Amino acid sequence: MSTHDDRTAQEFWEAHYEEREHIWSGRVNAQLPGILAGVTPGRALDLGCGEGGDAVWLAENGWQVTAVDIAETAIGRAEFAAEARGVRDRITFERHDLSDTFPQGTFDLISAQFLHSTVRLERPQILRTAASAVVPGGLLVVVDHAAPPPFSKKVPHDHPFPSPEEVLADLDLATEEWERVRVEVVDRDGTGPDGEPFTWRDNVMVLRRRA
Ligand SMILES: C[S@@+](CC[C@H](N)C(=O)[O-])C[C@H]1O[C@@H](n2cnc3c(N)ncnc32)[C@H](O)[C@@H]1O
Repeated sequence: MSTHDDRTAQEFWEAHYEEREHIWSGRVNAQLPGILAGVTPGRALDLGCGEGGDAVWLAENGWQVTAVDIAETAIGRAEFAAEARGVRDRITFERHDLSDTFPQGTFDLISAQFLHSTVRLERPQILRTAASAVVPGGLLVVVDHAAPPPFSKKVPHDHPFPSPEEVLADLDLATEEWERVRVEVVDRDGTGPDGEPFTWRDNVMVLRRRA
């Protein structure tokens, strides 16, 4: 991926989190509850967990969670949120630069929600490794921005926003092994930093490894 920033990925993301006390809402991402409705909880892996909104929600909903991020600051905030919500014992936090290392084990659910970066991030390789760590019958869930938010000042003009089909083409998963549960672009209402309404476009990819 091209980059306009000479910092390492860890330096970039630590600096990003240090800009403000909280970067994200602390709530679960919008698509995840609908995707998991009716799914029996098991072992989940949250890739790029940020401040823990999804990891805490998963734990509250019965999942045993491994939550991974490159930024110590984000993990510290996620641990604090898990403690405050009484689910710290259901979440294992691990710091990884996922471009280099990946958590041990296999999972019933691997979720990558907005695992984007404008600095080094070997996304196709990470998502292929993730797919190999999903147990038969388990889910690989990838939700991406289909486009940058209009108010974003940090995303370079040439930053790629691949379509769901392009993301899946990069993963090159065997069709006989993977069922496409959902592959689509979903619009949802949002508000910008000054309360202005706008529409988010999410790429939603939900794949089940055939049992
Ligand atoms: C756009 S944020 C999304 C955070 C969270 N998933 C959410 O939706 O709120 C991307 C996250 O991925 C993490 N990240 C970026 N590059 C990473 C890498 N190479 N390894 C692990 N985490 C990374 C960042 O620190 C950040 O928390």
